[in-house]
Amino acid sequence: MSIPSRVKLVEVGPRDGLQNEKQAVPAAVKIELVHRLQDAGLQEIEVTSFVSPKWVPQMADNDEVMAGIQRKPGVRYSVLTPNLQGFEAALKSKPDEIVVFGAASEAFSQKNINCSIAQSIERFAPVVQAARNIGIFVRGAMSCAVGCPYEGDIAPERVAYLAALMKGIGVQHVGVADTIGVGTPLKVQRALEATLQHFDIDDVSGHFHDTYGQALANTLAAMEMGIWQFDTSVAGLGGCPYAKGATGNVASEDVVYLLNGMGIATGIDLDQLIDAGKFISDFLQRKPNSRAATAILNKRLA
Ligand code: HMG
Ligand code: MG
Repeated sequence: MSIPSRVKLVEVGPRDGLQNEKQAVPAAVKIELVHRLQDAGLQEIEVTSFVSPKWVPQMADNDEVMAGIQRKPGVRYSVLTPNLQGFEAALKSKPDEIVVFGAASEAFSQKNINCSIAQSIERFAPVVQAARNIGIFVRGAMSCAVGCPYEGDIAPERVAYLAALMKGIGVQHVGVADTIGVGTPLKVQRALEATLQHFDIDDVSGHFHDTYGQALANTLAAMEMGIWQFDTSVAGLGGCPYAKGATGNVASEDVVYLLNGMGIATGIDLDQLIDAGKFISDFLQRKPNSRAATAILNKRLA
């Protein structure tokens, strides 16, 4: 399989990135971030999640953020919906895509969504059906596809098992998530292969957190298998509240720099993306967690 000539990035910074921030981020800042990301050329943005505000207070302004975005034609706006309650709440804001999120690890499923893997599938099934009935695209996230903060290494068979369950209820696309960023290229390839037993290559993406600095290598390893869709997070924002110690996703800026260097098209303007990352990092009073952004910002100053 040759390396893809075009790659699609799904920007998850506003959701996966900001969900973990302790300080309140006003809806207006989130909206501005989304606007900057779409202006930089991102074609899919995971905006927010319709989860319990007691569990994830940072996403409590989901309605307000979705309502405040001036949508750009051709851009897909997705939101997380763990159950029918979340899905019904999300409907008002007319997402193009919803994400149901399960885990390959039983312990993580319990910690993250308070139910077993089997129960999660029972909860997702009516959500998937309701979404598809009205033409909303359904993506599934498969957390802990390589390692779990509670159970350690996760065997590829468990990823295949979850992928089969997701396929069985009508999920259209799945993301293979290294939630805690412990994966290395061969392990990530095994998890992707397990997923490809049940989903076509065009319906599988990579979602790699960068805790151990492996996410770019894992992205390249996935591309070597023909995977061409990845979730990335501007300024490397984020983490999951239920995966202690895990850092953000691979920085969007770093992935775009890699792809630009390899002549792989993304439609994203790196300079504008760096500005978007600088905007949110300034708000959070820290530097962007992206090597490429740091290098280019330093060069601009010189
Ligand atoms: P639960 O407590 O098991 O649900 O939560 P419940 O049905 O028993 O309801 C309990 C309370 O929650 C009730 O409120 C419900 O109304 C409310 P109360 O009567 O106590 O006031 N509730 C909700 N409120 C708003 N929206 C909803 C909703 N559902 C119930 N949708 C639930 C189950 C899933 C909601 C909860 O466990 C939760 O919100 N968990 C947070 C999960 C989360 O957001 N995790 C982070 C995102 S996943 C991630 O980051 C990983 C990913 O990036 C991939 C990767 O890297 O691995 C995707
Ligand atoms: Mg994540």
